[in-house]
Amino acid sequence: MKDRYEIAVVHGDGIGPEICRPALGLVDAALRQDGLMHWSEYPAGAEHFQATGDGFPEATRKACAAADAILHGAAGIPGVVHPDGTEVGLDFTLVNRFTLDLYANIRPIRLYEGVACPLAGVKAGEIDYIVVRENSEGLYAARGAGSLLRGEMAVDPLVQTRKGIERIVRKAFELARQSKGAPSDGVRRVTCCDKANVLRSYAFFRQVFDEVALDYPDIETEYAIIDAMTMHLVLRPSHYNVIVTENMFGDIISDLAAATIGGLGLAPSAEVGVSNGLFQPSHGSAPDIAGKGVANPYGMVLSAAEMLDWLGHGNGDDRLLAAAGRIRTAAAEGLAEGHMTPDLKGKLSTGEVMDILVGKVAGMA
Ligand code: NAD
Ligand code: IPM
Ligand code: MN
Repeated sequence: MKDRYEIAVVHGDGIGPEICRPALGLVDAALRQDGLMHWSEYPAGAEHFQATGDGFPEATRKACAAADAILHGAAGIPGVVHPDGTEVGLDFTLVNRFTLDLYANIRPIRLYEGVACPLAGVKAGEIDYIVVRENSEGLYAARGAGSLLRGEMAVDPLVQTRKGIERIVRKAFELARQSKGAPSDGVRRVTCCDKANVLRSYAFFRQVFDEVALDYPDIETEYAIIDAMTMHLVLRPSHYNVIVTENMFGDIISDLAAATIGGLGLAPSAEVGVSNGLFQPSHGSAPDIAGKGVANPYGMVLSAAEMLDWLGHGNGDDRLLAAAGRIRTAAAEGLAEGHMTPDLKGKLSTGEVMDILVGKVAGMA
């Protein structure tokens, strides 16, 4: 087993540092062993760009590529943009996704005991699915490559390749196989979410989905067109087990899904490829609450648990898997006991919630 893991840590902007910094201490407490995670902090983001003119320094890029894993808070300041109008602060996430080929963006969506669900009558455990978002192409393939013709017309190409679709669909089927199925009926199913009824590249997405599905006869399959999908996620969320979809659709439905379980502050993500992984909550830098010490840390904490899981499985290291389990247990207990920030109608600060979680993991076997 490794005697230490190199983790590149980028806190980012806004609430990023407020949630990311304390998460390091929680992971160390859960691991019971300081130094097993060798945290190295690097700058990136809009604030760094404002200070230095460089939103994603070369040293940070190199460290991310060399690290065993990357942990990120959140980044971005609206209005801090490139000449093409897109945000500078997002370079860290987007460039890493492409250069490290982090093709799978895995976003678990789970309604926890103790959290008020905005959907009438839906109880804890009745929402428990994974959004598997293709993370290396789709409409995001155009990032930095869109064109503006004579100030009259702008074009962002939507790219969907056989290789890109096949590997993300296979990832979705593998996750369904490892799951306990949909809350409503226990069926392991993968829902292909697309716009095949209108656009050729989504019809191709569905065609490749069908081809891969032949290798998984034990897994039920279905299609959902993106517009109706947004309704289904609100009206019958317990039907879903694993949803696979293109990059932009995944971005949008994962925020909707987060709302159905109580809010963006509860949504973790794992962005993984073959040998690199970036772990961050699905939400952004939340400028509207930054600096007030009230950011919900649970999405960050659960993203750190995803990181430990990914490293633990990848290195056959049970110490990390055990620590991930402790963190998840602490988070579930914390929510069930009502230890929450104002976004979840709680009265606690970020720091108070984190202190409680650290206390919990420290007290566990
Ligand atoms: P956002 O996710 O930052 O915030 C949306 C809403 O959710 C806000 O009301 C915010 O207060 C709330 N919220 C988000 N996270 C929360 C948390 N942990 N606790 C409590 N409330 C939380 O999205 P936005 O306002 O559209 O974007 C703000 C900035 O973040 C933009 O610059 C955007 O580009 C950037 N962004 C970055 C990432 C990332 O770094 N991964 C992701 C999304 C958006
Ligand atoms: C997300 C964010 C990102 C995206 C930004 C930060 C580039 O919204 O991770 O969901 O658009 O994918
Ligand atoms: Mn998003």
